[in-house]
Amino acid sequence: MLKIAVLVSGGGSNLQSIIDNIESGYLNCSIEVVISDKKDAYGIDRAKAKNIKTYILDRKQYGKSMSAEILKILDGKVDLIVLAGFLSILQGELLSAFKGKIINIHPALIPSFCGGGMYGLKVHEKAIEYGVKVSGCTVHFVDEGTDSGPIIIQKVVDVFSTDTAKDLQLRILEQEHKALPEAIKYISEGKIRIEGRKVLVI
Ligand code: GRF
Repeated sequence: MLKIAVLVSGGGSNLQSIIDNIESGYLNCSIEVVISDKKDAYGIDRAKAKNIKTYILDRKQYGKSMSAEILKILDGKVDLIVLAGFLSILQGELLSAFKGKIINIHPALIPSFCGGGMYGLKVHEKAIEYGVKVSGCTVHFVDEGTDSGPIIIQKVVDVFSTDTAKDLQLRILEQEHKALPEAIKYISEGKIRIEGRKVLVI
């Protein structure tokens, strides 16, 4: 069974969607650990409610050593790291130790509205400001860049002229809750092959 770690910084609705999909039997994997870089992240409460082991690595305290600390906790313990709204940037040895084994969800259609500083409502404000007619979410592998690794799944939603950033965020979040479990399922079933920038689902 695929052992995963889920990293969160906020509400943890994507963490909840993984928990729900494990409980429904859609996903055959186990969440070994949940790590947050913020001490008041509601995602931590969601994990505790399911008796999942949790760690808080406060950004202010760990700063640049965050990735090294995560590696210490996860090395040899999990097969996949899922970034589900985790705001700290991963770097260094953690990335090489878990090459091809870290995935992230971003609330836009990469390569649009992504990269440094693009998180939270800002992503949706920028999409609306630009006038795009569709947006969506992307699940991708994590590499040394920000939101730059090979794309596994994208899901598309309409953008309406009346949308506020919050409306768009909620519409996309619904799709995130499908896309992330779907990507984890492919990985757990060994259906994913990475060829350069391309991810093949076989
Ligand atoms: C999601 O929109 C995700 O795409 C982004 O951060 C948000 C996290 O939401 N990376 P939640 O904490 O899972 O509710």
